Amino acid sequence: MAKADRGRPLWSRWARAPGKVILFGEHAVVYGHPAVALAIDLPTTVHVTAYGGGETTLSGCPEGFAKNRYLLEAAKIAGAEGLDVRVRSGLPRASGLGSSAALSSAFLAALLPEPLDRVDLARKSFLAEFNAQRQGSPVDTSTVTAGGVVGVGLGSAGVKLWEVPAVEGRGPWGFTRLRDPGWTWVVAYSGLPKATGPAVKAVGERLKEDTTHLLDRIARVTHDGSRALLEGNREEVGRQMNLNHELLVELGVGHDRLAELVEAVKGRVLGVKITGAGRGGSLVALPRPGDEAAVANLFSSEGALVFPVTVTKEGTGRLSGPAW
Ligand code: PMV
Repeated sequence: MAKADRGRPLWSRWARAPGKVILFGEHAVVYGHPAVALAIDLPTTVHVTAYGGGETTLSGCPEGFAKNRYLLEAAKIAGAEGLDVRVRSGLPRASGLGSSAALSSAFLAALLPEPLDRVDLARKSFLAEFNAQRQGSPVDTSTVTAGGVVGVGLGSAGVKLWEVPAVEGRGPWGFTRLRDPGWTWVVAYSGLPKATGPAVKAVGERLKEDTTHLLDRIARVTHDGSRALLEGNREEVGRQMNLNHELLVELGVGHDRLAELVEAVKGRVLGVKITGAGRGGSLVALPRPGDEAAVANLFSSEGALVFPVTVTKEGTGRLSGPAW
């Protein structure tokens, strides 16, 4: 239905969520082990116009909305209909940088009542993502909702944020906020879209025959890495990132293309690892101070899409006026 046919809008709202990278513990977090993630300054902005009833459209297109499982599930959770949704994002889709979490969280932030209850937003954003994927943990949705450096399952390390209740036998997950050391990270998207659901499933199969306590070894790295992060020990964070990368490869989520990109920067960074589901997607690297541009160039010359990023304190929120 064209926008002009729908009459006067009841309201129009703007909301924004950052992207994310997982620094330690992806995959293991699905099984209740700890993880650390960073909200990064690559925002997704959503504009929602409400017409009070009828079908919901994505940029005026009903099929576009019906095909987007994240928006569909989020609208169901909020009990919203008769909307037009517009989205702008600096994140490549399926890159492992949190596009679906940012979309779910920003869209729900536009739909839920003011003042926004962040705990409710984090829980509902996870449910939208979980219902769309039928897999996974709330690490992405809680990180973009909270902003900053976020830990899960780290006990008393950091300041308590919230708990996300268990779903289908997994969880609950306890989230904390950790101090941001203020470093610049370099993220490189391989150009190969990752598929979180199949990767999580493949890891499940791999774990059935694992006799080497892979998840426990990842958990140890996450604990050691988060401690180094809290101490601002850059060298040690890099070392633990490298160990985490090797364990992810052992877990079966590596890829030849990712290995080439790691090889290209290895001698020039303190640490580099897969971030997110793997088998494609992105890498996150920690350069020495001042080496950020050189590392970005090395990735670029291998054909990766590169984002030098810093942690953004701001989580998901409503905007007071138009963003475009
Ligand atoms: O969707 P991605 O690439 O951000 O991966 C999420 C991280 C996993 O641990 C693999 C899955 C999850 O939901 O925690």
